[in-house]
Amino acid sequence: MSTFSFWKKLNKMTEITHQRPKLQSIYDALFSFESKNRKAPYPIHKGVSIEGKRLLDWLAPQLNITASTRILDAGCGTGNTLFQLHEKHGSTGVGLSISSKEITFANQYAEANELQNQLQFFQRDFTHSIDDLGKFDLIVAIESLKHCEDPIRVVFKLQDLLNPNGQLMIVDDFIVDEGAKKDIQKHKEAWDAPGFVASKALESHLLRSSISFQKKDLTSYVPLKSKQHLKVLLTALRFAKVFALGSQRMARNFKTYNGALLLEYLYLLNSVKYCSYLIERS
Ligand SMILES: C[S@@+](CC[C@H](N)C(=O)[O-])C[C@H]1O[C@@H](n2cnc3c(N)ncnc32)[C@H](O)[C@@H]1O
Repeated sequence: MSTFSFWKKLNKMTEITHQRPKLQSIYDALFSFESKNRKAPYPIHKGVSIEGKRLLDWLAPQLNITASTRILDAGCGTGNTLFQLHEKHGSTGVGLSISSKEITFANQYAEANELQNQLQFFQRDFTHSIDDLGKFDLIVAIESLKHCEDPIRVVFKLQDLLNPNGQLMIVDDFIVDEGAKKDIQKHKEAWDAPGFVASKALESHLLRSSISFQKKDLTSYVPLKSKQHLKVLLTALRFAKVFALGSQRMARNFKTYNGALLLEYLYLLNSVKYCSYLIERS
């Protein structure tokens, strides 16, 4: 496909977008901040090191990936997952993100590396209809499910997009203790994460539908600041908010950072777990 027809197709696809302006502004702002001086895609998930491996290197051996594997990255960030898996296995795929900045970056990188026929990225909401994208052998949703209004419905929907013997890999934060309700609510609000739900809720829905899954608890690998350090940062942020001085964008960024610190705090309280769920379609 020529570059021109590729961009034409891309523009047509992006007409079908989304209505999540808050979520888009969070990830666009995060991209503007984190992408400085970066030329290659990078992960936007937690910097876990599991058994000495980065998240993706730890996940990959559990997945059946070959050069013929077609992957959907639901919530693809800068495209890091698809680029990495393509480099190692030759797999192809489609990445979707709410953030136009992430998508532009991923497509530019694909084009610069002549990968636009193998990997395509669209600014689309994966909770809406994406049936036009076809079926996939593997779907990954790394730290994106918690942003969905109805994450359980989305898991079932994604499962329907799998080819026979396909795999769905979810990695996310899940609530295990609702005690710290206020902070949970604040985090949900700050990160536009209505789907930050209890792991039990997801599991009981899957079991009721006779969908088996392999769960792994990765909580112990999540890097955390000390309680003291977090408290100092949260207090400093409360004061720093004054400097937003009517700038909505700055106030929004402070809120996002506050939400990130609160999530760490919830981990320290043992209210939250970081889990992977592997669902295989028979
Ligand atoms: C924490 S980042 C993770 C990015 C990537 N999975 C990674 O591991 O680097 C969450 C991503 O999910 C995307 N996202 C969240 N909800 C989405 C939705 N409903 N449709 C499309 N993208 C979504 C965001 O735009 C962002 O790119």
